[in-house]
Amino acid sequence: MGSFKNTVLILILLVTYGQGYTIRSITAYQNCDVKWGREQLNNNSSKSICQYGSLLSCVAMILQTSSKPINSRPVNPAVLNKYLMNNNGFKQGDEVNFSALEQVGLHFVKTVSDLKTAQEYFNSNHYIVLNINYGKNYGVLIGFDDSDKSNVIYYINNPIIPSETKVAAKDISVAIIFKAL
Ligand SMILES: *[C@@H]1O[C@H](CO)[C@@H](O)[C@H](O)[C@H]1NC(C)=O
Ligand SMILES: *[C@@H]1O[C@H](CO)[C@@H](O)[C@H](O)[C@H]1NC(C)=O
Ligand SMILES: *[C@@H]1O[C@H](CO)[C@@H](O)[C@H](O)[C@H]1NC(C)=O
Repeated sequence: MGSFKNTVLILILLVTYGQGYTIRSITAYQNCDVKWGREQLNNNSSKSICQYGSLLSCVAMILQTSSKPINSRPVNPAVLNKYLMNNNGFKQGDEVNFSALEQVGLHFVKTVSDLKTAQEYFNSNHYIVLNINYGKNYGVLIGFDDSDKSNVIYYINNPIIPSETKVAAKDISVAIIFKAL
């Protein structure tokens, strides 16, 4: 457990900024972290977690934030990768099989392209993974600023480039909605 102390945020804090929007505190993981970046996604020797694991990292962030351990271990991308490998958790093309997350306490609700719907789910205690950069990458929604309705800014935990936290609607392909059970 000790090695997780620096990277894992246990508390879910709600920090409200003066602007009138809320940032949810969600454990941040990077897919290229030296602890797991070189491991193979779904044991596929041509796919490292570093190169292909941004969705895996996002789901690991959500499980860890909602205090859902796997086999009594705190969840990180490596722990989740192993679990999925052993539990039909990957589909063809090494895509994550969301149904396999049900057994570890995470329910896949649906995928939507309408971001207003995603906002409503976010505000009712759901977790949202945004598919960004023309479908290539993923990030976990931590808040959004809709003070300018014509230019809503979405804030994410970005597992690829952590400093890039702001995403515009035009860069979001779909939103994947989850509910912790
Ligand atoms: C991973 O792949 C290697 C090479 O194909 C294979 O020998 C090994 O059994 C696989 N491991 C698992 C856990 O599936
Ligand atoms: C591993 O990934 C490569 C590249 O996407 C793919 O062509 C190959 O079929 C995958 N291997 C397996 C065993 O699924
Ligand atoms: C996905 O997971 C579900 C639930 O464990 C399982 O029934 C299904 O067979 C899995 N799908 C694939 C393609 O492995």
